[in-house]
Amino acid sequence: MAKETEPNFDHLSEAELLALLDPEVLPKHIAIIMDGNGRWAELRGLPRIAGHAEGIKSVREIITLCRDLDIGALTIYAFSQENWKRPALEINALMMLLEQYLQSELDELIRKGARFRAIGRVDSIPSSALNWVRKVEKATAHLDKLLLNVALSYGGRSEIVDAVRRLAEDVQDGRVQPEMIDEAFLEGYLSTHGLPDPDLLIRTSGETRISNFLLWQLAYTEMYFTPTLWPDFRRREGLLALLEYQKRERRFGQVSKAVSPQSRP
Ligand code: IPE
Ligand code: IPE
Ligand code: MG
Repeated sequence: MAKETEPNFDHLSEAELLALLDPEVLPKHIAIIMDGNGRWAELRGLPRIAGHAEGIKSVREIITLCRDLDIGALTIYAFSQENWKRPALEINALMMLLEQYLQSELDELIRKGARFRAIGRVDSIPSSALNWVRKVEKATAHLDKLLLNVALSYGGRSEIVDAVRRLAEDVQDGRVQPEMIDEAFLEGYLSTHGLPDPDLLIRTSGETRISNFLLWQLAYTEMYFTPTLWPDFRRREGLLALLEYQKRERRFGQVSKAVSPQSRP
């Protein structure tokens, strides 16, 4: 069988890429592991924090893209539990950037109708950053055009541990009977409860691992790995990821719809 040639989008403008998207097959929820900020900076002989600062511009563009396309939920990995092992200087700079971002972006989030929510063991971040997190959560709580989940001090396994712990307390107090517990019930204890699982996970910088992100929620997510470093992942890159997503056939364990019933074994 002749191999299908991959479409080449290099010569297309953003408007042309946008026109190629099928509005009926867009993800409802996108998750992103924003990786490669340090390498972006090192390549330019800059301190790593310059890469984190530049990465914020990508966050802005991707939020705008989600709003333009009416994608209802975006979950971005900003700081993992494992990232606490980085040098204090980098951690402090990241927390300062987070605080600055929240201060400067609040009005823009409101204008876009975006609800901001932090997920993870958020209470472990420094109090001045935490105050801003809570302030922006409160100020955007009524907005519903886009839910922006920002994973801070987040780990997928500890999210499950925390959920199970609260569930065990509810069982102990007699509020929950063990036979009530099924997948949907446990999901109700996760930080993303009520949201559809991500349809698409994007990881930048060429790494092809999950790094403890959304372990429960990614069970049937389509994975998109790109060598592009996060500060270079802008609107155009987002459109390319969505076009790739639209080529995937999501089978969820079933047989391919492309295979006719007659040709199945
Ligand atoms: C991702 O970029 C941002 C955070 C983890 C906070 P990195 O800082 O991991 O960048 P690289 O992977 O070292 O290039
Ligand atoms: C994952 O990136 C965490 C975030 C993007 C916040 P890392 O750079 O920390 O992941 P590893 O260490 O390469 O797996
Ligand atoms: Mg990294």
